[in-house]
Amino acid sequence: MNPIQEVKIHAFSKEYKVSIYSDFRGLGETIRRFYPVSSIFILTERKLSGLFSKFYSMELGGLGVPVHEIYIKGGEKNKHINRTADVYNRLIELGADRKSLILALGGGVVGDFAGFIASTFLRGIRFAQIPTSLLACVDSSVGGKVAVNADLGKNMIGSFYQPEFVYVPLIALSTLPKKEWRCGMAEIVKHGLLSGGEYLEKVRANNKEVYDHSSPALLELIVGSILYKANIVSQDERETGLRKVLNLGHTTAHAIESLTNYKKYSHGEAVAIGLLTAIILSVQKQGLDQNWIEDLRKILAQYDLPYQDSSKSSQVAKHTLHDKKNVGSSVRFVLLQSAGSPVWDIPVELPEIVQAFRSQKKMK
Ligand code: GLY
Repeated sequence: MNPIQEVKIHAFSKEYKVSIYSDFRGLGETIRRFYPVSSIFILTERKLSGLFSKFYSMELGGLGVPVHEIYIKGGEKNKHINRTADVYNRLIELGADRKSLILALGGGVVGDFAGFIASTFLRGIRFAQIPTSLLACVDSSVGGKVAVNADLGKNMIGSFYQPEFVYVPLIALSTLPKKEWRCGMAEIVKHGLLSGGEYLEKVRANNKEVYDHSSPALLELIVGSILYKANIVSQDERETGLRKVLNLGHTTAHAIESLTNYKKYSHGEAVAIGLLTAIILSVQKQGLDQNWIEDLRKILAQYDLPYQDSSKSSQVAKHTLHDKKNVGSSVRFVLLQSAGSPVWDIPVELPEIVQAFRSQKKMK
């Protein structure tokens, strides 16, 4: 079975494909290309296995190698270094070896966690990403960032470790709750602002009707986002410079997530609010056309995304100081000179953040 679309990733350390299929009926054939494989380990959440194993078991059953499932708990708090030991032990008990293949089947948390396990088990075994959330399809499954959290910080322990392939089964999006659609869409809007041009126009021209796994417009948005990320990763796999642009909106987002105890918003919803803060700062500091403030507000509203939060502006500004992308004591932002022309590592003073966030709060 042929994929609907394919995007090649030319990372410095590895070349691989992101293949988009309507369902799981291409997975077996895809895995065969990576033979010899001694055994397959599906790292996933129990509830995702319940939803999708009837589809993928048939595909994997015909491969002639042992297939095991190891359940990991979803949710950011479970993406913790303390949770890794059980999974390593399970892999050893079940006889995983250097020719085993790990399949990371799930959203961003599963992909980061399973990818981290793959990157460290036996000093690194092969793995593939099978994203089942919109955020994972357009962002976290592509580009090889894998990590777990420490007590004192998110993603503090990890590496750049590229998968053998990324297999996107669109059918998996059919069960996504609304909050998860919004979560992924914020990253798509981010990619639109960063890329500008035709892709941004597609983002602007659509609305929440694309929250449907069979929508042709959704497919176009997913492919455009992956193409944009592929281009960035191929130029700067290890985030020494250009890849930092993918953090647009994230400085304020991390502050808001932490201030609201990771409960009020999904990551993407916090990114949506952070995108608008970054745009306001871009108008003030980089000469971005000021119509963009209202334009972005409208785009976010089209997709049912939040664009403001009631947290105290001074608290938000203070929390941006904790961002791990900062250098020394100044807060570093990704900003836009124009749509499609991002700049990174721009120092921003706390009073400027306070002022931007305050004006955002006042927006109708
Ligand atoms: N999610 C941002 C990156 O992959 O660099």
